[in-house]
Amino acid sequence: MLIKTAEFLRSVPKHQDCPPADKHEFAFVGRSNVGKSSLINYLTGFAKLAKTSGTPGKTQTINHFLINGTWYLVDLPGYGYARVSQEMRKKWTGMLQDYLEERTNLINTFILVDSRLDPQKIDIEFINWMGLQNLPFSVVFTKTDKLSKSKIAANVAKFKTELLKYWDELPPIFLTSAETGIGKDEILPFIEQNMAHFLPEINQ
Ligand code: GTP
Ligand code: MG
Repeated sequence: MLIKTAEFLRSVPKHQDCPPADKHEFAFVGRSNVGKSSLINYLTGFAKLAKTSGTPGKTQTINHFLINGTWYLVDLPGYGYARVSQEMRKKWTGMLQDYLEERTNLINTFILVDSRLDPQKIDIEFINWMGLQNLPFSVVFTKTDKLSKSKIAANVAKFKTELLKYWDELPPIFLTSAETGIGKDEILPFIEQNMAHFLPEINQ
């Protein structure tokens, strides 16, 4: 799929204020600083579309981008950011969960996981929560440029083993790097296929 246009539409704190749910939507979620905004930028080819930062907690609202005038990519705030108050964390998590549960045109959520780390409890809990809600998702390992291929493979294998403690089947898994651009050739066709197979449940 060729991305010709990517337009920032809206940044909102509540799912009720998002653009009309009338187009296919794909969201990016994951721990703060995992690379959600960077992934959106390299997937679309527009380097400054989503705001990125070395400081965790940069994205604090739900951000809609209209792609090719026909579908939405959504940048979400990170979960599990330790340096904000517990009250703020609860607020963000509530906002995220409401959005994920209520957004009827959401086709797939990409859950981003840092490929450098051992399986993190918070990621596994989030994935299991998605499963309990019956929400479709895939897992995207980020920052694969930072470690050797063998170390990445070992970390991915550990993550799969952890998931298989809870799941009979593994979700689709992608390896990415915003530095080298790997993963784009797998994720964009995956989005395209999903758009062909699922109609958004239009509700507004
Ligand atoms: P929040 O909005 O704070 O939740 O963070 P985020 O998940 O959107 O992360 P963001 O894209 O802002 O990236 C965080 C930091 O990681 C930035 O300094 C990026 O440059 C860096 N980064 C993101 N992806 C990659 C990658 O694939 N490789 C490398 N080396 N650095 C990356
Ligand atoms: Mg961000």
